[in-house]
Amino acid sequence: MGSIIAIVMGSKSDWPVMEHASRTLDELGVAHEVRVLSAHRSPQAVAQYAGSAEERGIEVIIAAAGGAAHLAGVIAAHTVLPVLGIPMETRLSGGLDSLLSTVQMPAGIPVGTLAIGRAGAVNGALLAANIAGAAHPELREAVRRYRDAQTRAVLEITDPREG
Ligand code: RP5
Repeated sequence: MGSIIAIVMGSKSDWPVMEHASRTLDELGVAHEVRVLSAHRSPQAVAQYAGSAEERGIEVIIAAAGGAAHLAGVIAAHTVLPVLGIPMETRLSGGLDSLLSTVQMPAGIPVGTLAIGRAGAVNGALLAANIAGAAHPELREAVRRYRDAQTRAVLEITDPREG
């Protein structure tokens, strides 16, 4: 199977955070593509990429950006695929600027917005897998196994002073 999930980020500087999204999809065994595309620095390439994603077999797009974070919204404007926005942390406000500019979409063009930073990156990948899992039962099972392993890891820690 080709890639069914796409991870897009506004700058290579976002990769240390978005790597966690890619790693999470790897853990679930989901084929995915990863691209750097900027809503402001390469607007035509963003439109072309988002507009052709559906016909290339992509089912969910995860889009990360920081500051004036318009990438997820612009991608959502060019496709009817579900778009999940991940706000990147910033020095100005810890990422509140990114969060607001990702989440405050006008009615009519939705972006499902996750938490700022690493938690958002991991959860964006998991939510994308949940969405795509509706059409791919094996992916649903992979998410269940991920959850089970996570639960076991928590229960293994009986006393945090040990180990
Ligand atoms: C955004 O501007 C990117 O998503 C990144 O979070 C931020 C800073 O980009 P660089 O100046 O590091 O390339 O578009």
